[in-house]
Amino acid sequence: MFNIRLANESDIKKVFELSNDDLVRANSINRNKILWEDHVKWFKNRIKNIDEPFYIVEDENENFISQVRFNKEDEELIISVSINKNFRGHGLGWQIISEVSQKNGNYPIVAYIKVDNIPSKKSFLKAGYIFKEKKIINGEYYEKYILL
Ligand SMILES: CC(C)(COP(=O)(O)OP(=O)(O)OC[C@H]1O[C@@H](n2cnc3c(N)ncnc32)[C@H](O)[C@@H]1OP(=O)(O)O)[C@@H](O)C(=O)NCCC(=O)NCCS
Repeated sequence: MFNIRLANESDIKKVFELSNDDLVRANSINRNKILWEDHVKWFKNRIKNIDEPFYIVEDENENFISQVRFNKEDEELIISVSINKNFRGHGLGWQIISEVSQKNGNYPIVAYIKVDNIPSKKSFLKAGYIFKEKKIINGEYYEKYILL
């Protein structure tokens, strides 16, 4: 069981920690560690942006499971998901992806996934996304998945 809500200022530290998790950085377009000062500036602005929802997923005891963000680019919403390491490996990813995607139906939703990120590819496929094409971003191979 999990609940999905919009992020607010009280989430600033847990999002920082999850975003700096080694696996999350390794699977991101920019692999560099994030500095706290940069995070504070970014986060405070980012949560005000209602056109690009930023969700926090929690269990029934308000333990932090996951963050999911949507970024609008051209006429698409790019989804980005990461799960707190204590909650990985239980097949929650596809369920979270599926539920948040249903909340955002105005534009096609796409995910860019590194070719070796098997758990992510499996999670998006199980949530109903389909493979669209390969892309090179910053010299690395990604696969683009889309929810039709
Ligand atoms: C990607 C992520 C959200 C998936 O979370 P999850 O739901 O805990 O994923 P699971 O570990 O349950 O794995 C999902 C599926 O991949 C399979 N899998 C996991 N690791 C695997 C591996 N190395 N080889 C083959 N299959 C693997 C699991 O068995 C599961 O398969 P199933 O659906 O058939 O049971 C999570 O790993 C995460 O937060 N990663 C760091 C951030 C990230 O990579 N985000 C995505 C960026 S595009």
